[in-house]
Amino acid sequence: MESKLREIRERVLGELAKAESSAALEQIRVGVLGKKGELTALLRGMGKLPPEERPKAGQRVNEVRAELEGALEAKGEEIKAREKAARLEAEAVDVTLPGPARGAGSLHPMNIALERMIDIFVGMGYEVVEGPEVEYDHYNFELLNLPKNHPARDAQDTFYIDDNIVLRTHTSPVQARIMTTRKPPIRIVCPGRVYRADEADATHSPVFHQMEGLVIDENITMGDLKGTLDEFARQMYGEGIRTRFRPSFFPFTEPSAEVDLTCANCHGEGCRMCKGTGWIEVLGAGMVNPKVLDMCGIDSKKYSGFAFGMGVERIALLKYNIPNLRYLYENDLRFLTQYR
Ligand code: PHE
Repeated sequence: MESKLREIRERVLGELAKAESSAALEQIRVGVLGKKGELTALLRGMGKLPPEERPKAGQRVNEVRAELEGALEAKGEEIKAREKAARLEAEAVDVTLPGPARGAGSLHPMNIALERMIDIFVGMGYEVVEGPEVEYDHYNFELLNLPKNHPARDAQDTFYIDDNIVLRTHTSPVQARIMTTRKPPIRIVCPGRVYRADEADATHSPVFHQMEGLVIDENITMGDLKGTLDEFARQMYGEGIRTRFRPSFFPFTEPSAEVDLTCANCHGEGCRMCKGTGWIEVLGAGMVNPKVLDMCGIDSKKYSGFAFGMGVERIALLKYNIPNLRYLYENDLRFLTQYR
């Protein structure tokens, strides 16, 4: 019994020393400690020993079993560490390799146009101001001389949050906000998103963008307005582009005008884009209605001002000769990537 025990111990320790993998280790463990293992068999065979020898023999078997278990565990740790190191090495990432190429993005053509527009006015000394898209009826309509039930509200039907809160129909409420909080001189442009309950087509969208301009100071005249818009047109579209003012009506300006630009596509010859007229309507403008100045707390006897509002999409379509508003909203990369 004792010699058998020694033989097993020697042999297993020898095998353990040579074992290289977890699998080999497991095989050794099963062979000696498993249900059909050699030590297990020895323990079972103890019944055949004379009773007085059994306790001593049992103790010896248990000693050897404990020793072998310890050796197995130690070897197991060692193998696990070695296997982990090997795996780490095999899976190592070469961080010096170049990554997968990513296509560079670019600004949306409408934003390219808007940035240019803003640049031009900032160059003329204007400040950029923004306001909320969800706006009080008070600023969007009332302070702009569009009281409730005024028929001119029809032209700017919008989405109502409740009776007093709307999605703004133009960027003009920003001028009302500024006039009620600042003293002249005021010289601002207000770009932003606006909303109207319009059906989408080649020239309309229920969500679009405008840029409002407002100047208030002493002795501001319609001549200042014309000069400003002429200069804007020249810088935006180049020499040879002229403006044309047609009488119009807005409740918040008096007098009011619709302003056309020489068609940038045909340079005034007449083409499909300008429907043969040589002109394209791009904005509304006028002298700020004295009533609006007074409602906003600015002395209309002392100060006067002009305002204009232009559609950013419209300006971009003209700038890039794009025939349909929808191209701007479809997010088709074949279209967008042409305007880097
Ligand atoms: N707010 C007007 C519109 O959206 C445009 C405009 C702005 C007209 C300023 C005159 C002065 O139709």
